Amino acid sequence: MEGHRGLLLALIVNIFSIVHLVHAQNPEGFISLDCGLPAKESPYTESTTSLVFTSDANFISSGISTKLPKHDDYKPYNFLRYFPDGTRHCYDLSVKQGTNYLIRASFVYGNYDGRNIMPRFDLYIGPNIWAVVSELDLYSPEEEIIHMTKSTSLQICLVKTGPTTPFISTLELRPLRNDNYITQSGSLKLMQRMCMTETVSTLRYPDDVYDRLWYTDGIYETKAVKTALSVNSTNPFELPQVIIRSAATPVNSSEPITVEYGGYSSGDQVYLYLHFAEIQTLKASDNREFDIVWANNIKKLAYKPKVSQIDTLLNTSPNKCDNTFCKAFLVRTQRSTLPPLLNAYEVYILVEFPYSETHPDDVVAIKKIKAAYGLKIISWQGDPCLPREYKWEYIECSYTNNSIPPRIISLDLSNRGLKGIIEPVLQNLTQLEKLDLSINRLSGEVPEFLANMKSLSNINLSWNNLKGLIPPALEEKRKNGLKLNTQGNQNLCPGDECKRSIPKFPVTTVVSISAILLTVVVLLIVFIYKKKKTSKVRHRLPITKSEILTKKRRFTYSEVEAVTNKFERVIGEGGFGIVYHGHLNDTEQVAVKLLSHSSTQGYKQFKAEVELLLRVHHTNLVNLVGYCNEEDHLALVYEYAANGDLKQHLSGESSSAALNWASRLGIATETAQGLEYLHIGCEPPMIHRDVKTTNILLDEHFHAKLADFGLSRSFPVGVESHVSTNVAGTPGYLDPEYYRTNWLTEKSDVYSMGIVLLEIITNQPVIQQVREKPHIAEWVGLMLTKGDIKSIMDPKLNGEYDSSSVWKALELAMSCVNPSSGGRPTMSQVISELKECLIYENSRKEGRSEVDSKSSIELSTSFTAEVTPDAR
Ligand SMILES: *[C@@H]1O[C@H](CO)[C@@H](O)[C@H](O)[C@H]1NC(C)=O
Ligand SMILES: *[C@@H]1O[C@H](CO)[C@@H](O)[C@H](O)[C@H]1NC(C)=O
Ligand SMILES: *[C@@H]1O[C@H](CO)[C@@H](O)[C@H](O)[C@H]1NC(C)=O
Ligand SMILES: *[C@@H]1O[C@H](CO)[C@@H](O)[C@H](O)[C@H]1NC(C)=O
Ligand SMILES: *[C@@H]1O[C@H](CO)[C@@H](O)[C@H](O)[C@H]1NC(C)=O
Repeated sequence: MEGHRGLLLALIVNIFSIVHLVHAQNPEGFISLDCGLPAKESPYTESTTSLVFTSDANFISSGISTKLPKHDDYKPYNFLRYFPDGTRHCYDLSVKQGTNYLIRASFVYGNYDGRNIMPRFDLYIGPNIWAVVSELDLYSPEEEIIHMTKSTSLQICLVKTGPTTPFISTLELRPLRNDNYITQSGSLKLMQRMCMTETVSTLRYPDDVYDRLWYTDGIYETKAVKTALSVNSTNPFELPQVIIRSAATPVNSSEPITVEYGGYSSGDQVYLYLHFAEIQTLKASDNREFDIVWANNIKKLAYKPKVSQIDTLLNTSPNKCDNTFCKAFLVRTQRSTLPPLLNAYEVYILVEFPYSETHPDDVVAIKKIKAAYGLKIISWQGDPCLPREYKWEYIECSYTNNSIPPRIISLDLSNRGLKGIIEPVLQNLTQLEKLDLSINRLSGEVPEFLANMKSLSNINLSWNNLKGLIPPALEEKRKNGLKLNTQGNQNLCPGDECKRSIPKFPVTTVVSISAILLTVVVLLIVFIYKKKKTSKVRHRLPITKSEILTKKRRFTYSEVEAVTNKFERVIGEGGFGIVYHGHLNDTEQVAVKLLSHSSTQGYKQFKAEVELLLRVHHTNLVNLVGYCNEEDHLALVYEYAANGDLKQHLSGESSSAALNWASRLGIATETAQGLEYLHIGCEPPMIHRDVKTTNILLDEHFHAKLADFGLSRSFPVGVESHVSTNVAGTPGYLDPEYYRTNWLTEKSDVYSMGIVLLEIITNQPVIQQVREKPHIAEWVGLMLTKGDIKSIMDPKLNGEYDSSSVWKALELAMSCVNPSSGGRPTMSQVISELKECLIYENSRKEGRSEVDSKSSIELSTSFTAEVTPDAR
């Protein structure tokens, strides 16, 4: 008997096929890949089948091509592709959806690697295992399956399961009719396909229009009968004439024909296809009739083959065999005058493919994304989500159950060198919840469609080269809980603030942060000074950023020298550089801060400041105007705050009149607004870390400009809403909780803001050792328990304030300096409290507005001396 398929394929073209050889063109839908074939030898016409084979190079992204050491007569077997790296390797083929395909892969080892071990590995169709390739394939190198495609792409994957290396010789796809090999579920894996044609050992295309591979070894104890007459072959199986003109009958005509096959797992579900045609000329008295008995069940009684007409019998539901061998008997009936007859048969076992492939929309989209960004990730082959153990890296999927296609819900392409725009095809991943494109070189604008992706709740676009505005719809979603990180995009405008200015004056000159930092740096701070006078200190439009941003330009070092008049006048010294005074032109004064070459700490702080200032734009934060990045020098240009810092005005160091209570409240409110912007208007949020009166600069109208971002830090949002850092900041202003735990949150800035509030209320030193309580917060606390508000208040205010305004401010300040960060208000709460304080104070002054506006004019014109912007 023949328990296995034939040995090596050795094709001999029989006379019937010669007719077809004239046309060397593949039938529609045929895919014939010679795996490992070098592209320069592709394509070629295989001589025995007349089929055109092509190289597989365009259908797989991995593997190595090699040649068998010993030439094989069948040309497609001479090359192979093997896969020494990675686990799963997939061919990606375009197919017709919903079509039954005969899929054949062959594995001709030929000791190509000299190890003389036939490898063992798994063969998959999409997410489902099809076969284990093993030593058995040495004898029959093909695996064949009839499979209905579910989408327009088909993935055939080789999966490494042990120490040996997967390889493949050929891969062939043949579309079939959809009315022949039908199952209720699952696919049909070929076990045997046998015919009785004695003239050749195997038979395929062009005899068989579907290129089924037939073995012709005959059936145990049978002999062949033949006819020269043509047989009507009209049935869905479209068997070749050469096959149906031959049949087997038993050698001993009283014996049955036994179809025996086995060697499979006992649970295998088997389909048997029996092809019959009466090809002998029967006399009137002749009767051929037999029962078909299979797996101990009579399947068909008294069957008579049709005269000169093909007829196929098959079991419509699969049979289980009791053991590893199945037998079907064709037993002649009592009244039959002739022995049974069989032309051909096929045996398949059912392979259930339980897993639905990943949703085709997601597959199409992710493949387009892969192509658009030229991603070369070895695991990005085959089905994206399945099998789960070979899922693509950097994606996450949702799995409902086996019959529901998985969906891609997360895509992490962080730090993969992506270039170009944020691809529109991303929106076709409709179930995406999380998208991380951080640390790439993506350019262009943040697309509006991100706001339309319903499931998307977390977007990380940080550290790219995105520009323009964040679409309002996206900002809206952010307010409703969308996590959106756009940190580190120099030309991206994070807040409402730049809506007015950026579109009008695109920043084209900003160099990359790293370029700045790799250069030794000169920091240039320019304070725009404008002589324009307004009659009110408050209630005016902020300085338009456009004036500044248009001037955000590149300076040469010689320009910096000219601007500072060769660094003529030192006006201050910061933690990492000296500040020089200068003039941009007749009306604009400048200050130049040089990074000292020896300062590594300064270098870090400088970096922090540069990073922050390239990103933030807020009327209450000191603004960048330009920079110098030349050889050893770099300069940054800031707007000019003509009235120095808040500390000078409180201490009386400035020659001007003392700030009144309303002005102090206004400055505090604006400072808090700048901080609120850092805390909630920036993505990721920022912590200033060094809020103090010397860092609150005042422009010519006494508007607050928060400066010195050298210690600023970003902190992530979400679960970990703190940053662990080395404690830094200024003694007295430093949040004790941060000092204790090293955990930095935006509440540390709230603490420092509280100290600033206490200073503007009391005008007392933050730390004074000789005081009853050295620290200002403790001292005020002590005074408050005594109910002694008069001794708390700055005497320079001359008692001119609304007391409920002061009480409220004190209360607020004390809550800000709560030792526990949980007890402190947010910066937004600070702002609204301070605004209320202002309302109280303003209502007190009602009826005295004339006087006030006059004194405001005096205020704004009396502080004209330039001051050190950064007195650290
Ligand atoms: C062949 O068989 C089919 C189906 O039984 C029939 O319709 C057709 O007429 C037959 N053709 C010939 C030439 O007998
Ligand atoms: C043919 O088979 C029958 C029934 O099994 C048996 O009795 C007979 O001896 C066989 N004939 C030969 C020639 O082997
Ligand atoms: C899979 O889940 C869907 C929807 O939840 C359900 O309708 C279906 O019956 C489930 N199928 C199986 C096999 O559990
Ligand atoms: C997204 O999917 C739709 C519908 O499947 C398709 O028409 C469109 O071309 C896809 N978009 C992109 C950018 O590929
Ligand atoms: C965004 O990406 C950056 C860089 O990979 C990372 O540090 C940060 O934690 C991410 N943020 C979020 C919210 O995922």
